[in-house]
Amino acid sequence: MNMILLGAPGAGKGTQGALLAERLDVPKIATGDILRDAVRRGTELGREARKYMDAGELVPDSVIFGLVQEALESPAAEKGVILDGFPRTVAQAERLQAMLGDMGRDLDAIVEIAVPDETIVRRLSGRRSCPSCGRVYNVHSSGTGERCESCGDALVQRDDDREETVRRRLEVYHSTTAPLVDHYSGAGVPLHRVDGDRPVGEVQSDILARLES
Ligand code: AP5
Repeated sequence: MNMILLGAPGAGKGTQGALLAERLDVPKIATGDILRDAVRRGTELGREARKYMDAGELVPDSVIFGLVQEALESPAAEKGVILDGFPRTVAQAERLQAMLGDMGRDLDAIVEIAVPDETIVRRLSGRRSCPSCGRVYNVHSSGTGERCESCGDALVQRDDDREETVRRRLEVYHSTTAPLVDHYSGAGVPLHRVDGDRPVGEVQSDILARLES
């Protein structure tokens, strides 16, 4: 199963992707997570990416393509992948098609998680995540404490979750990433639009039902 999770910042791609990865037993490749890890480690790539991420802008393709190629070629990804945060532009979608084609693989499904912008702004103001294991929480929907329930590390708030940056990320999403829905319509790959403005479990059941149908 090679699938793409599409959706605005905070739509729940990471949350649903983690649940799906466990359920379908394939890894989640999240370009945002890979970039944040590089920022934390202070690598050259991380220093380059940070300028764009903090401004809510897309990181250049010259940085992104190599990361995705490497992740797709890892042994863990042989059975398939759940792509979260990639592709984000039509050019990235075309590059993905070429990468999968070179590997003799196909795209099996695209799931768009739809959530209204105002829900997103509220959600992202309450997001907390674990820098060690990546588990994501929300102070609005769960009784989130200060430490990760899985590994005990102190939870942090993402730098790009400040409201002005969230609003810029939403603009970039609507102008640059949302057109991918049209790009993939009629491309011969099942495209499922799910309402993401519901409890996490309901969204998950809906996605699974559509993938199984
Ligand atoms: P990235 O990390 O990919 O961020 P994003 O797409 O903006 O998505 P988020 O991670 O913010 O949200 P999500 O949809 O995963 O939501 P989550 O599950 O966490 O990218 C960050 C930056 O990296 C970009 O701005 C760009 O600079 C760069 N970048 C990354 N990929 C790139 C690429 N391909 N090309 C160029 N640049 C790239 O949920 C959000 C919150 O809501 C959480 O607190 C969660 O607990 C809560 N929540 C989730 N579901 C629900 C629900 N159903 N009900 C209530 N709360 C919920």
